[in-house]
Amino acid sequence: MPLVRVDRIPHHIAIIMDGNGRWAGRLGQPRTYGHRAGSEAVRRAVRACRKLGVSALSLYAFSEQNWHRPPEEVRALMDLFREFLISERQEILRTSIRVKTIGRVERLPPDVGQVLEALVAETRDLRGMTLQLAVSYGGREEIADTAKRLAQHAAAGRIDPACVDEAFFASELPSVGAGPVDLLIRTGGEQRISNFLLWGAAYAELYFSDTLWPDFAEEHLYAAIQAFQRRDRRFGRVASDDVHTGDPGDGARVHA
Ligand code: FPP
Repeated sequence: MPLVRVDRIPHHIAIIMDGNGRWAGRLGQPRTYGHRAGSEAVRRAVRACRKLGVSALSLYAFSEQNWHRPPEEVRALMDLFREFLISERQEILRTSIRVKTIGRVERLPPDVGQVLEALVAETRDLRGMTLQLAVSYGGREEIADTAKRLAQHAAAGRIDPACVDEAFFASELPSVGAGPVDLLIRTGGEQRISNFLLWGAAYAELYFSDTLWPDFAEEHLYAAIQAFQRRDRRFGRVASDDVHTGDPGDGARVHA
């Protein structure tokens, strides 16, 4: 197991969990078999992050674009989310995890939406770690939806357009409540952000792993954190500028 420094654990880790389909294909199994194994990897990652003292873990569970997958695959993923929320409820409560969702959750089937909404309400005041589940999520959509909402408020005279600066806009973005992303991990060998947390990941350290998501174990997470701890984070400044050491957008961080 790679060693990590306990004094420099990233506050906010975000993961693009890619490779379930290929993992299943290699075993001659349907894609849904890979998603089921992927949900076991989700359980492991949540536990490991909680143990390490991570403040927020954001998981890209389902993108807006994923609705275009075959209906049987979409339904299987929805069933897995529901199962995950039900089976993990006790542990989530016991370990004081606050579940939050980002994305157009109103698009979820009612049986999934209800379980999710109930767990979000039940865990609202827990502060051990925030588990931010991105479902029916897209970073561009989030920014566009927020811009539309602020434009409507401005048109109705509820806000002064002159107040809409970077900090104000960030404070209105649902995903930014969990704080800026420190470490963005993508599994499965591709090297792109795929519309995940576009605003919050502006200064994230990117870590790409060839491991397919169902194989992603605690040791892979430790390797990602170890790589993060070797990076020199300058946030556009010079290395010796030790007066400002955080993400310039850190004002919007709400610690879990
Ligand atoms: C991408 O792999 C993965 C997804 C679109 C879904 C992620 C879902 C899970 C990890 C399982 C359930 C989640 C929770 C929160 C319980 P892919 O299917 O695109 O893989 P491929 O690139 O190999 O085809």
